[in-house]
Amino acid sequence: MAKQPSQRHAASGSPDDPQVLAPVFRGTRVLVGVTGGIAAYKACHIVSRLAQAGAQVTVAMTEAATRFVTPLTFQALSGRPVYTSQWEHVESHDPQHVSLAREAAVAIVAPATMDCMAKLATGRTDDVVTLILSAIDRAKTPVFLAPSMNDAMWNQPSTQRNVRQLVDDGFHLIGPGEGWQACRTVGAGRMTEPVQILEVVTDTLRLRSTPRGKRR
Ligand SMILES: Cc1cc2nc3c(=O)[nH]c(=O)nc-3n(C[C@H](O)[C@H](O)[C@H](O)COP(=O)(O)O)c2cc1C
Repeated sequence: MAKQPSQRHAASGSPDDPQVLAPVFRGTRVLVGVTGGIAAYKACHIVSRLAQAGAQVTVAMTEAATRFVTPLTFQALSGRPVYTSQWEHVESHDPQHVSLAREAAVAIVAPATMDCMAKLATGRTDDVVTLILSAIDRAKTPVFLAPSMNDAMWNQPSTQRNVRQLVDDGFHLIGPGEGWQACRTVGAGRMTEPVQILEVVTDTLRLRSTPRGKRR
């Protein structure tokens, strides 16, 4: 159901290398949504690599996410304003969630909390991340979610129900993996590592840009 990254990690061709990412991402507008999970710090790596590859990265954060990593960190890494509220229009005179959604060629939510996935699965839009995502046409713009949570949260029937719904609705789920969790247990729900998230996104965009799956 969810995409699992491969074990590829050769130095040449590694998705951790901005030069490898550049052909896919240079000049591409990427929306990165950060929600309030302990893995929020790992989103810094994703934003940094994309920015180094020449992508125009816009970060949107939920209020909970700002408790884990400051917007200033993402602003410095992306070189762009960071969106933390649906009520504060930073750049646009249009409804900003609509223009941000229209401009994005791809969106990545990492980490995606249990709460965020529940909202997306049920069409709720009461924070800036879910609001922007609600205005994205997923037929044109792929939206990747990297779930991250404690294994009991991941195994809740509600979460599993939401995961099925999200996949049915055309979201691309990446992971989660299994391993050490911040609650000091080992289990399912650990966020896929940033480099592997980049690998899945890169491979999907490459596929969509081939003649059979031409990107818009
Ligand atoms: C220390 C701490 C760590 C948390 N880690 C996670 C997590 O990894 N995954 C998750 O789904 N929720 C986690 N939560 C709970 C979310 O922060 C909470 O559900 C919040 O309302 C999510 O809001 P958001 O989805 O709008 O970002 C954590 C809470 C705390 C206090």
